[in-house]
Amino acid sequence: AIEMLHLSSLVHDDIVDHSTRRRGQKTPNHHFGDPLSVLWGDFLFISSIRMLTRAGRADAVDMLAEASRQMIEGQILEFANNFNYRLDARTYYDIIRRKTASLFGGIAELAAGLPGGAAGRERAFRRFGRDFGMIFQISDDLLDLFSERSGKGRFQDLKEGKVTLPYILLIEGGALPLIRAFDRSRPGPLLHCCRQLGVQERSLAVIDRYSRRCLDFLRAFPPAPCRDALEGLLDFIRYREY
Ligand code: IPE
Ligand code: MG
Ligand code: MG
Ligand code: MG
Repeated sequence: AIEMLHLSSLVHDDIVDHSTRRRGQKTPNHHFGDPLSVLWGDFLFISSIRMLTRAGRADAVDMLAEASRQMIEGQILEFANNFNYRLDARTYYDIIRRKTASLFGGIAELAAGLPGGAAGRERAFRRFGRDFGMIFQISDDLLDLFSERSGKGRFQDLKEGKVTLPYILLIEGGALPLIRAFDRSRPGPLLHCCRQLGVQERSLAVIDRYSRRCLDFLRAFPPAPCRDALEGLLDFIRYREY
């Protein structure tokens, strides 16, 4: 149910972002057009809720409803700031906390409440999920500039005027004219500027701060295969190309 809800948010996100490619394939909006994709996203969303109500999981419905509210707020705040090249880092973190980290946080909190889970530790679990989500989104925002195999259109954020952390660092470093004059077929000058300003390294340093908190959380548990798996996942999302 959670994955279906997540998928519905991506179907709608691709419409909002005018994205044509995801996971190496055409997006639904590119393939079928916006009207059908709106309906398809709605269908997935409501199917997810129905799956949970049928399973008697009112707690999960409540979590997903709250996470979705925050996700939509984040998406609206982001949209309202498209092409706002004066966007500050604080607002950027606020946007990604809502649009991405809220769902990760809710899921982790829900896990704490499962039988054999960690009742009473919901807040710590939620914080772990949120930190994890922050890493996921910052690293996603880096893919736009630095990955040639993300399966999504490269420089799509730039084209849509999404002012994410790497672009904020570029603008701070005086690269706004390069961003404004950007030509997809000649990314060299902008990438050169990224290297000069250490954009990738400085973004990874931010990721590492969240990463350390996640690791502290995980290492408070006794060693177990699931702990190793989560540590591995953390390492994977931290620095990935897709
Ligand atoms: C979308 O963020 C987050 C959601 C709330 C679905 P992005 O717009 O950066 O996600 P991608 O890059 O299209 O996957
Ligand atoms: Mg998108
Ligand atoms: Mg988006
Ligand atoms: Mg993205």
